[in-house]
Amino acid sequence: PAEAVPQAPEDPLFGLMRACKADNSPDKVDLGIGAYRDDNAKPWVLPVVKKLTFCATHATQADEILRNDPDLNHEYLPIAGLASFTSKAAELLVGTSSPALSEKRVSSVQTISGTGAVHLGALFLAKFYKINGQSSTVYLSNPTWANHNQIFSNVGLPIATYPYFSKETKGLDIEGMKRALADAPERSIILLHACAHNPTGVDPTPEQWREIADVMAAKKHFPFFDCAYQGFASGDLDRDASAIRFFIEQGFELLIAQSFAKNFGLYGERAGCFHYVSPPSPDAASVTTRVASQLAILQRSEISNPPIYGAKIASTVLNDKALFAEWQENLRTMSGRIIAMRTALKAKLDELKTPGNWNHITDQIGMFSFTGLTEAQVAKLRSEYHVYMTKNGRISMAGLNTKNVDYFAKAVDKVVRE
Ligand code: LMR
Repeated sequence: PAEAVPQAPEDPLFGLMRACKADNSPDKVDLGIGAYRDDNAKPWVLPVVKKLTFCATHATQADEILRNDPDLNHEYLPIAGLASFTSKAAELLVGTSSPALSEKRVSSVQTISGTGAVHLGALFLAKFYKINGQSSTVYLSNPTWANHNQIFSNVGLPIATYPYFSKETKGLDIEGMKRALADAPERSIILLHACAHNPTGVDPTPEQWREIADVMAAKKHFPFFDCAYQGFASGDLDRDASAIRFFIEQGFELLIAQSFAKNFGLYGERAGCFHYVSPPSPDAASVTTRVASQLAILQRSEISNPPIYGAKIASTVLNDKALFAEWQENLRTMSGRIIAMRTALKAKLDELKTPGNWNHITDQIGMFSFTGLTEAQVAKLRSEYHVYMTKNGRISMAGLNTKNVDYFAKAVDKVVRE
């Protein structure tokens, strides 16, 4: 039967990463994958994480954690994951004093980072969210993180898109978005980026979130928040969760996929959570318990139980006041450096008088900027200047640093003028 299996294309982003790794040019600029880099273009182990995981005299990170914590071993976690981690992860999103927590309306499951959380949510919706026996359509922003498409279609859910990015303003197409949400069939599933939208770096304002929530409430739509960059949009964890908190206050039943890859720099450890939040009702606690029981079955059949190491690191930080404060400081270091690179890139393009308006570089927020460069310009930047970015014109701002920002700006200036 395998003879009939066609060759699948390589994942575009991971293909880009591979090509970039293979390029030995000293000029190389890696603006592809959304992963934080320091001013030397190197991965940054957050100091607060390093404190927990590294010891010069010990061979491996795992050894060191074990040394510090006599209770840690390599046994299985429960199916829903490490409770000290998932409970704090939920607080981080909904706020410690949220009635959703005191009323036991949140059910949380540790997942294989944000991707696993989106997948678990997609599976859950495919199995339990049927309107008149039919699956609802999932509406994704246009554009969105490329993986969203295949995660939802892999579980058989129909996909559609809503306008999001305005090519003219390089900001939010709020009217187009609201129109599409109003036109979508009732009870559609709407995937929303909680903050620091990937790939555009464009977020709705609080007022625009209110308008979006109003349309969604009127059409009884089901919000599914993807929160992969909490702490990266404003540098403030609470502010970056404000859209989610607002929707909860409005009484929505909703889902949240949460990643700790970026904000803890735990990319390869796959630490994340999926949360179901039920609307206020006298029956809410029992709904949450039933949902949790079904999520446990889905989780057991997919991964049995989640990995312990990254969750343990995040949990240690989230449960300790001093470490938590240090983590916030580390987040400000990352978001601050990214903002400084936005300013530097914009200033250099202005200085070069590069044709076009580049205000969006500093207006957009979070890890990414959607530059507006065309696919042909992106290809030229790669072949002639060793600059790697996704072909939709997205750059990972964290790939820029004080040593390469001028080089990148000059390369952009050249390809834009050609
Ligand atoms: C990205 O968009 O670059 C990141 O979210 C990495 C990924 O898994 O796609």
